[in-house]
Amino acid sequence: MNLILLGPPGAGKGTQAKRLEDRYGIAQISTGDMLRAEVKSGSDIGREAKAIMESGGLVPDAIITAMLAMRVTKPDCAKGFILDGFPRTVPQAEALDVMLRERGLRLDHVIELKVDDAALVERIAGRFTCAKCGTGYHDRFKPTSQAGTCDVCGSTEFIRRADDKAETVSARLDAYNRQTAPLLPYYAGQGKLQQVDGMADMDAVSAALQRILAGADSRVDATVPDR
Ligand code: AP5
Repeated sequence: MNLILLGPPGAGKGTQAKRLEDRYGIAQISTGDMLRAEVKSGSDIGREAKAIMESGGLVPDAIITAMLAMRVTKPDCAKGFILDGFPRTVPQAEALDVMLRERGLRLDHVIELKVDDAALVERIAGRFTCAKCGTGYHDRFKPTSQAGTCDVCGSTEFIRRADDKAETVSARLDAYNRQTAPLLPYYAGQGKLQQVDGMADMDAVSAALQRILAGADSRVDATVPDR
């Protein structure tokens, strides 16, 4: 099963992709995580991407599509993958169509998580992750059980993303509206777009995604508020 989670920064793509990965044994492919790893390693790609990411812009399509083409050949993608943060432009979507066709693969689902802009800012501002194991938390929506200690590995070190500052978040939302939102009609035109109310709590969003993957909700859900 191959699927795309679409949605603006902070919509919950990463949160839900990890849950789907655990439940279905298919690989989460986060181009944002891949780029952050490149930045951390100081590679050529990382050096080029760093300033772009910190300004809230998009890394050039050619870099991203080359990275993705390599990533989908890894063994953990054998049962399928969840694309989290890719594609982000129409040229990336077109490159993905070609890549899948060449490999005899198909997209089973393209699911948009719909969230209000005001909620996105609050979600991003409160997000932090464990510096050791990478588990994600939120000051309000998913705090650690014991203040200052990771629930999973017990580490007391946490990090906040450099691009989660208020001024960068508005640039990221702008990039989403200008460059990524055109993917919604692109996939609707292919008859693939489905929608989930991303304003619901995390478990309710997971349940809605599972219903779609089980084939229960095969069309765009008319009950999802227009955001
Ligand atoms: P990327 O890492 O992909 O960031 P993003 O798309 O901006 O998405 P986020 O990771 O911010 O949000 P999310 O939707 O995953 O939300 P999350 O689950 O964490 O990209 C970063 C940068 O890399 C880009 O700006 C660009 O420069 C570059 N890049 C990446 N891919 C690229 C591409 N294809 N082309 C070009 N450039 C690319 O949730 C957010 C918070 O909310 C968390 O704290 C979570 O706990 C909480 N939360 C989640 N769900 C809920 C809920 N239902 N209720 C309440 N809280 C919730």
